Amino acid sequence: MTDKSNVDEHTEASEAQIAVHWKEEQYFQPSQTFIEQANMTDPDIRQKFGEANFPDCFKDYADMLTWSTPYTKVLDTSKPPFWKWFVGGKLNASYNCIDRHLAQYRNKAAFIFVGEPEQDPPVAMTYQELYVRVNEMAALLRDFCGLKAGDRVTLHLPMTLDLPITMLACTRLGVIHSQVFGGFSGQSCGSRIQDSGSHVLISTDAYWRSGKLIDHKVNADIAVQTAEKLGQHVDKVLIWQRYPGKYSSPTPMVEGRDFFVNELLQKYAGKQVEPVPMDAEAPLFLMYSSGTTGQPKGCQHRTGGYLAYVAGTSKYIQDIHPTDTYWCMADIGWITGHSYIVYGPLLLAATSVIYEGVPTYPDVRRPWRIAERLGVNIFHTSPTAVRALRRAGPEEPRKCGHHFKHMTTVGEPIEPSAWRWYYDEVGKREAVIVDTWWQTENGGFLCSTIPALDAMKPGSAGPAMPGIYPVIFDDNDEELVKGSGQAGNMCIRNPWPGIMQTIWGDDQRFVDTYYKRYCKDPQSKDWRDWPYMSGDGAMQAADGYYRILGRLDDVINVSGHRLGTKEIESACLTVPEVAEAAVVPVMDEIRGRVPDVYVSLNAGSTGMPGSGASADVVDRVIKACEDMIGKIARPRQVYIVPDMPKTRSGKIMRRVLGAISNGLAVGDVTTLANGTVVEEIRVMVQGKHAVASTDAIPEDIAKFGQHD
Ligand code: PRX
Repeated sequence: MTDKSNVDEHTEASEAQIAVHWKEEQYFQPSQTFIEQANMTDPDIRQKFGEANFPDCFKDYADMLTWSTPYTKVLDTSKPPFWKWFVGGKLNASYNCIDRHLAQYRNKAAFIFVGEPEQDPPVAMTYQELYVRVNEMAALLRDFCGLKAGDRVTLHLPMTLDLPITMLACTRLGVIHSQVFGGFSGQSCGSRIQDSGSHVLISTDAYWRSGKLIDHKVNADIAVQTAEKLGQHVDKVLIWQRYPGKYSSPTPMVEGRDFFVNELLQKYAGKQVEPVPMDAEAPLFLMYSSGTTGQPKGCQHRTGGYLAYVAGTSKYIQDIHPTDTYWCMADIGWITGHSYIVYGPLLLAATSVIYEGVPTYPDVRRPWRIAERLGVNIFHTSPTAVRALRRAGPEEPRKCGHHFKHMTTVGEPIEPSAWRWYYDEVGKREAVIVDTWWQTENGGFLCSTIPALDAMKPGSAGPAMPGIYPVIFDDNDEELVKGSGQAGNMCIRNPWPGIMQTIWGDDQRFVDTYYKRYCKDPQSKDWRDWPYMSGDGAMQAADGYYRILGRLDDVINVSGHRLGTKEIESACLTVPEVAEAAVVPVMDEIRGRVPDVYVSLNAGSTGMPGSGASADVVDRVIKACEDMIGKIARPRQVYIVPDMPKTRSGKIMRRVLGAISNGLAVGDVTTLANGTVVEEIRVMVQGKHAVASTDAIPEDIAKFGQHD
């Protein structure tokens, strides 16, 4: 038994006890070739973005945009933590992403779409063509749907060109888009429709995934029904077609409610719509993200600050030039895709690749073939994808003729061995790597190396971004000494232009979630009193590099995507036999973390442990998670337990279940109300003679459930 896992109700693991995942690594230097062409080579950049020059340093990013009315003040902090950026300025997002590039880049590809079926040739869409399509779609949204600035529209679209066209058409009118990840279920989409108050849903008939043309229209029907049940009526459902002019879904269209976008567009052919100048503080989009409660929160991003921040970070950190072909393999349905597939690359007039399908379809060499064929020179993906591609085809990248100058990893901590494979095999030792740490709430990167200036260190995200001043607090809310190497709660001391404005419709939750814990004086008007709490554990090494250790709250990071344990538990509780549910994160070789589900059943239910009906309950629990959230929330295991381990006050001890699921020792359980059930559950999961792991325990696992 290791004492590291001895985390019962009374003895919390101290920072010192928590082993960090991996040891400090050697540095890797960027190549001279990279440095010579890099956008950012000023060794004084961090000083220029230092506190002495805050907030004016961010004018540099705002200058990358075209403003129809110049701003008069960089930052207004009069109502913390509701910061205002570039006050008084007006601009339009679609104008900045498209119109202003036409004079110079009219016939350069803005996007290259690669469908999953490999026999279909890639489709390049020029800036001119994008301009035409976005204008036509904007005319349709305005004239057919009656949408205007400030209205919200929910999009539930997969990875095709229709998605950025729709997003940009919304922004042309000042309509706030709320794109729900295409892999989320209809029910998830419906609750987001309701929360955002959308009257229009934009979806599609079908898309390709792992060789199958998946019916997506069915989700639109479920979404509308769910929203109706929650009290939000949807007037119109616009359906794109994967193959224009052909309906590829078996689900019928609903007369008077559902319309084919491609049919409607005929009426708007060649229509032009003046981009509406929007206030810098006007919301640009909502992006829902999981938190510690069951209800996902709509992160509301502003127009001016957000666009400035993604332009600046895309230029300096992604090193995007207009001549680059850039491929971010994330989904546009996540914040990474919004910032670094659509807005960032387009603001810089680059060519951005959109791939429809799964990276390993039809085989593990697919990404490298795409990269070679399109001449991709900047590549961006997650540790989960790196691990999966490495496991299935460690030698494959070598066999392909692609050459990257730059690669990104994002979404989860990347272990040094996966980092090295990425560097040696995918990047062929030619490419720099940036490990970028940030969150849906943040708009853009918060920690990363500046690729031509800072050495890379595998497993560490790197220093803070220019203009970002982090602080790490220990469990007693004391600031840790800079570079101490001790783990604590990662916070950012200052506002920055990319930070979300608020949680849609819930200012109080915004304050409570991110600012309450570390704000010493809620009356203070000084931004220095309002550190932003990220919810991540981190440590800063003596060289100033941050290593992110994982979530410290009830959020599970599955393949770089956030799922709230409470959300999954609520889904499980919809199965009538389930009395109680507890969800815990389990370490997974490929996906980082996956959820395990423990359920106890109502007295008298068929399906008690060991009975024939239990398999049926397990199946229905899995189905509930998939239906209510999406396949991404599919539990690794569902265990039906005789009772939940509980404190005397009746709280479920999730940390005990987490230890069991991760093959760890459970520690002292004598203080529990029903300690004996723990051994029963342990045997059920680990087997009779389980040997507790003596490996270092990642911080998020060690601390999981500690705050219950
Ligand atoms: O735990 C951190 C992890 O992903 C969380 C944010 O998830 P989400 O809002 O879905 O955004 C993902 C993409 C921006 C963070 O709280 N995370 C993100 N990037 C890294 C990371 N963990 C370690 N290293 C990273 N580079």
